[in-house]
This record gives sequence, structure tokens and C-alpha cells, in this order.
Amino acid sequence: MSFKNSKVAIIGVGNVGATTAYTLINQGLCEEIVLIDVNKEKAIGEALDMQHSIYFMNRNINVHAGDYQECQDADVVIITASVPMDPHANDRLSMLDGSKKVMKSIITNVMASGFNGIIVVISNPVDVMTYYAYKLSGLPKNQVIGTGTTLDTARLAVEISNLYDLDCKSVSAFVMGEHGDSEIVSWHSATIGGKNLEDVMKDNKERTRDETFEKLRKKTTAAGWEIFHRKGATTYGIASSVAAVVKSILFNENRILPVSVLLEGEYGINDVYLSVPTIINQIGAKEIVEIKLDAKEEEALKASADVVSSYYDALKD
Ligand code: LAC
Repeated sequence: MSFKNSKVAIIGVGNVGATTAYTLINQGLCEEIVLIDVNKEKAIGEALDMQHSIYFMNRNINVHAGDYQECQDADVVIITASVPMDPHANDRLSMLDGSKKVMKSIITNVMASGFNGIIVVISNPVDVMTYYAYKLSGLPKNQVIGTGTTLDTARLAVEISNLYDLDCKSVSAFVMGEHGDSEIVSWHSATIGGKNLEDVMKDNKERTRDETFEKLRKKTTAAGWEIFHRKGATTYGIASSVAAVVKSILFNENRILPVSVLLEGEYGINDVYLSVPTIINQIGAKEIVEIKLDAKEEEALKASADVVSSYYDALKD
């Protein structure tokens, strides 16, 4: 008798892919990781380096370089590959043309392996790329997820927790919509330790200083670029975000995270991949949580959906 290994394939072993693999190893989230990259030597080198780290880990993980056939029995395929970010654009949507070609070839190869697990897309522009991966793969919508605003939600929590000198995990405030400029925050439902965020801000004026909802939202959208302009990539935040999504899948956690999922009427939005709080478990996106937005938030979420879907035409060849 043997137990089935949980296996994760990572496509694209650049900064994000390698850091993601190492995060999964550090957290001991699966038994096997296969690294797939057009640059095979890079994948082999990264895998070797990570193999040596296993000696010091809590769990023995079989990490190795491989090819697309290895996706066949993978539980999760993480797609990180995209064209390099344009340092001047400050907009992930400018990467669409290049990323589109990369995504098409990846999904064709992944599906040719006979893969029937869950695809988690990181590649930017993530909402458009996840929709594209969904369409190309033919997989059910629950099996194709984008990391979306999971990372932005962490960034906002860190920003808010710094104001009040708190553990960032005590902040509960969902960033929703596009992983980009048009993203929104559901301020209406935001709490710290069960207390309405608006009340916390009012009751702690000396700590809140001149901070406003909109300033906090802007800092959150700018955070990725703040990092990118300094170090040329973002890695740890996104790798940790995808690890949380993968953990909820492989451990059947039913954790609620704001990932990019196909909306079909939820929040009054149709046929658009967009981030909203979603229950994630072993079947992937199990259920969308419809939190109550106020009228302004609802309008802003719809506007964000319009931004994302306006790029769908560009996906047609
Ligand atoms: C970021 C990239 C992953 O925001 O889009 O860090």
C-alpha cells in the first residue's frame, strides 16, 4: 500500500517561480515539486540548490526539474511565466501581448499531459491571464484560479497594522477586483479584532493621523511598484500568497481568500475573472462569498470588472 504524493508543478522558474518553490519547501506543503522552464539549465540549477536545502527542512520534499509530461499527475500547476514587467509602464496590463503567447503555449502543453488538477495563475496581468487559461484549458471554472488580490489584501493589512502597532493578521479587510489600479477595498466590511475599521480610525485619531480609506487603497496599489522599482521584481509577498492558496487546496482547508475567479452573476458581474473572497479547498474555488458592499463599492467593483474585460478582445488571435 502506498499513499498518493501531493505534487505541485511550477511553470516558470524565474524570481517568482523559484521563490514560490522555496516557500512551499519551507512550509512543507507537499511531497513533490517539479520545476519546468524553457531554460532547462536554470530549472536544473534551481532544483539542485533547493535539494541541498532539504537537509535542513522539517520535511523531505522531492524537488526536481522536469518537463510538461510531469504535470499529468500533479495536484496543482502554478503558472508564473510571463514576459518581463515593463519598468516604465507601472501597469500590469501592458504585459498582455507578450504574456498571452507564453500562456497559450503553457496551457497547451499542460493539458496535453492529461492534467486534471487545479491551475493557479500568477502571471500578469493576472485577471486577464487567468480568464485566458480557463478558456484555453477547458477545465471547469473551480479548477482555474488566479492569485489576484490575495497579495494586495496582505499589503493593505500590513499598512493598516503599522498605523495601530498591531499584528497584521488581526486586520480583516478584503481587497477585491483587478490586481491593479482599479482594485477596490470593501471598507464597509473591514474590521480590526471585530471592531469596524472606520470606528477604529475615528477612535484613534492620533494614530490614524491624516490617513484615509483612499490613501490606504492607493498605497496598496502602489506597493508592488515600490518594490519593483527598487529590486526589479517582487518575490516574497507573491510567493507567500500563492503558498496560502496552495495550502488551502492541498490541505482542504476551506480558507477564504480573495482570489481571481470566474464571476457568473455574483456581485452583478458576468463572465469576468476578478478577485472576490472565495472558499478554497481540494476542488479549488469551491464557493464565492458574496459580502455586502455599499453602493459605491459595488459600482467600483463593476468598473474594475469593466477594466479587466475590456482586454478580453485582445485575447482573440
Ligand atoms: C505584485 C506582482 C505579483 O504585485 O503583481 O507583486
